Amino acid sequence: MNSEFKGKRVLLIIGGGIAAYKCLDLIRRLREQGAVVRVILTASARQFVTELSVATLSGEKVHGDLFDLTDELEIGHIQLARDTDLVVVAPATANLMARMAHGLADDLATTALLATDKPVLIAPAMNTRMWEKPATRRNLARLIDDGVRTVGPNEGFLAEGESGMGRMAEPAEILAAIGQCLKAGAGALAGKRILITSGPTWEAIDPVRYIANRSSGKQGHAIAASLARLGAEVVLVSGPVALPDPQGVRTIRVESARQMLEACERELPVDAAICAAAVADWRVEAEAGQKIKKKAKSAPGGLNLVENPDILASLSRHGAHRPQLVIGFAAETENLIEHARVKLTGKGCDWILANDVSPARGVLGGDENTIHLVTAGGSEAWPKMHKSAVAEALAGRIADHFATSRKAAE
Ligand SMILES: Cc1cc2nc3c(=O)[nH]c(=O)nc-3n(C[C@H](O)[C@H](O)[C@H](O)COP(=O)(O)O)c2cc1C
Repeated sequence: MNSEFKGKRVLLIIGGGIAAYKCLDLIRRLREQGAVVRVILTASARQFVTELSVATLSGEKVHGDLFDLTDELEIGHIQLARDTDLVVVAPATANLMARMAHGLADDLATTALLATDKPVLIAPAMNTRMWEKPATRRNLARLIDDGVRTVGPNEGFLAEGESGMGRMAEPAEILAAIGQCLKAGAGALAGKRILITSGPTWEAIDPVRYIANRSSGKQGHAIAASLARLGAEVVLVSGPVALPDPQGVRTIRVESARQMLEACERELPVDAAICAAAVADWRVEAEAGQKIKKKAKSAPGGLNLVENPDILASLSRHGAHRPQLVIGFAAETENLIEHARVKLTGKGCDWILANDVSPARGVLGGDENTIHLVTAGGSEAWPKMHKSAVAEALAGRIADHFATSRKAAE
């Protein structure tokens, strides 16, 4: 039995998707870990699992009707929403995600979701086309902005006989994500100061032109938000991005690689540093004071480039103030693991998150990422996940790292 589950109350909202049957296993696992599970079944979910199975496995009355007078007298929908440590929505159907994103409260499930003051974790599950529809992407982005955590979906075999993205995370993965959320409530990273860089850098050519790259900052910003949710004091040094500053994070906006390095150094000492920014390797040697004219002699072909400071290497080799844990990203288009390993030793960092950024993968600017975690001990392939799920997984690993080193020091 894991301590993060013992005596914790989980309100599980089961949506009307084919994956609802997996929630019976999830309820069993949660109870085995010592959690108390209350369940709301949506009207559609009742087409997929029976109230009898859910009540038997949870050992609790099952809820579903917003206007059930007996339920309302016994517990009340507001109390049901608040008298819990975590709300989990699994499967989070496209319909439930849309209703949540728009703040609808037209049944017990969505009313409880709107009324709750507790963290919410969703496990989306749907057909690939539904998952990829702009409407679902918008709803998911809005939910993430609102602080909703996600687990999955995964790529794999779908009920309709198709294969693709949209398969609900397995009960074991949802259980692990619930464990992380429950630990987060207790502040798994409380007292830790973490620095993270995100986004591209802009290297000026003249007052109006610059050299940049396609990094959107989505991954770095998501990691900052996940770390803050685990109770860390997070400083985000961000290049120019079109994203809002994450909640609960101190954001410092910079443009160039040199400004990013200066901002990072000012924030030392920190317990961990994560270099997720796509820092330009090169900058123009002498930025022109005035806009370069089209007919000028120094056409762009004549730009003289010099190497930029290496922020990851600088932090990894920082004498007195080297963070205990330094994590870098390796964006590669070939020989992923091999290049990541060279980067790990070359820069002196502790972990590398390697990702394939070939244009066909759509990682740069996209919402999903396939990560290989490379450490001195080996490499680990993570399934293709939404960037927010990668962020949650990484934040959990960082919390585990500090918990292990705390135990070793005791
Ligand atoms: C056989 C079947 C399987 C379904 N599976 C899913 C699914 O996996 N994901 C999803 O978003 N909707 C799925 N739907 C559609 C939802 O049941 C429908 O959108 C419903 O309104 C969802 O209600 P709820 O979100 O209140 O639970 C399925 C429908 C049927 C008939």
